[in-house]
Amino acid sequence: MYYEYDNNNLFWKNSNLNNLCREIENNLKSLYNYSGPYFLYHEKIIQDRLERFEKNFSESRFYYSVKSLSNINILKLIKKFKTFGLDVVSGGEIQRGLEAGFKGSEMVYAGVGKKEDEIKLGLNCNLKSFHVESISEIRQIEQVAAREGVKGPITLRLNPDIAVDTHKYIMTGVEDSKFGINALELNEAVSILRDSKHLRLMGLQIHLGSQILDTNVYMKGLDFLDKIAQEIESSLGIKIEYVSLGGGFGIDYNSVFTTDSAKEFSLSELSKQILQRKNTGRRIDFEPGRFISAHSGLLLAHVLYIKPRKDYSIAITDAGMNELIRPALYGAKHRILTLKNPSGSMNNYDIVGPICESSDFFAKKIAMSTLKEGDSIVIAHAGAYGSVMSSNYNSRPYVPEFLLDGENFSLIRKPQNIQDIYSLEII
Ligand SMILES: Cc1ncc(COP(=O)(O)O)c(C=O)c1O
Repeated sequence: MYYEYDNNNLFWKNSNLNNLCREIENNLKSLYNYSGPYFLYHEKIIQDRLERFEKNFSESRFYYSVKSLSNINILKLIKKFKTFGLDVVSGGEIQRGLEAGFKGSEMVYAGVGKKEDEIKLGLNCNLKSFHVESISEIRQIEQVAAREGVKGPITLRLNPDIAVDTHKYIMTGVEDSKFGINALELNEAVSILRDSKHLRLMGLQIHLGSQILDTNVYMKGLDFLDKIAQEIESSLGIKIEYVSLGGGFGIDYNSVFTTDSAKEFSLSELSKQILQRKNTGRRIDFEPGRFISAHSGLLLAHVLYIKPRKDYSIAITDAGMNELIRPALYGAKHRILTLKNPSGSMNNYDIVGPICESSDFFAKKIAMSTLKEGDSIVIAHAGAYGSVMSSNYNSRPYVPEFLLDGENFSLIRKPQNIQDIYSLEII
């Protein structure tokens, strides 16, 4: 159970949101004269999700996908878990990781378009491995490594051409996606590694997509990785340290008043299936993002105006698609709760933001207890790909972020002010 009403209070994993939000808003008002939306993260939920990986895969290493929720204070929480490193996708994320106390050797670096300066940064901080996606990228890393006089650690991200049941924008392991090295490129990649004095092969990796519920596709991916690992090992006469199944473990966005684990990705089922197969001696690693961060965050917004329509109403909130773009980008659905216990009359609502775009909505025609202007609403399970995808569209500042530790909260990102937004413009 994530959320629960008790009398007229909404509890989020035993934290009383009505009290906390009142205190947070008083703080924001007095310190920053700010009264808008904010993100709230729950330390206990993050810890619980991290522990699930450690419990189910005792032989593995995990690399938390920084892009899903990247505040340095969240990364510091993850740092407390010794089996967790970071999966980063840019020089900026490497720097975040270092700032949070991770060593380069605890990070793997993914992404199809690494620039020369980012590669140099990765080499200089002794990254665990570059998860490479093309022949050109391997050659580029080789050149930079030769210039720096070091050996670049390389993991081949392969494109296994395995389709998964998810939104097409987050399916990444099929042939027509931009990701991974395909069968046509593999031989050349291996022969560069064989001949190079400046590259060292660490592992093989796949990432099939995001919000996946089926464990069988991971087993299919693992068979694919094992077959290629065996071929490469005998061709190069080396031992590959790890194969990585990437991230993608799906969660149930609908479960707010229950914790229906049957509807989210089953780590225990995957662990069982992995244990049943023959041990290859290669470590199996993972790069979870959403599974850790989604339930751990909420977006708190306020109803600004209510507009009546024929048989429903439109509730316009102070949060918009620039704070949470998932509904506009992927048609994602988030549950929306009121802080007050729903009772009495109900109404149908479109819950929309203030941005000048028709795609700026959080929900359409949902039944909620009657809302009034000034009410607070909770947009649930907004921790993953929420704040990190925010923009300044419509010249709207980034909103503050808070971290909850039971009944205590700390401000982990200040509200941005308007001058910050245009400070780089030359006037
Ligand atoms: C290479 C890689 N690893 C891990 C992830 C994390 O995925 P998720 O947040 O679905 O677990 C992603 C997300 O796109 C990715 O591209």
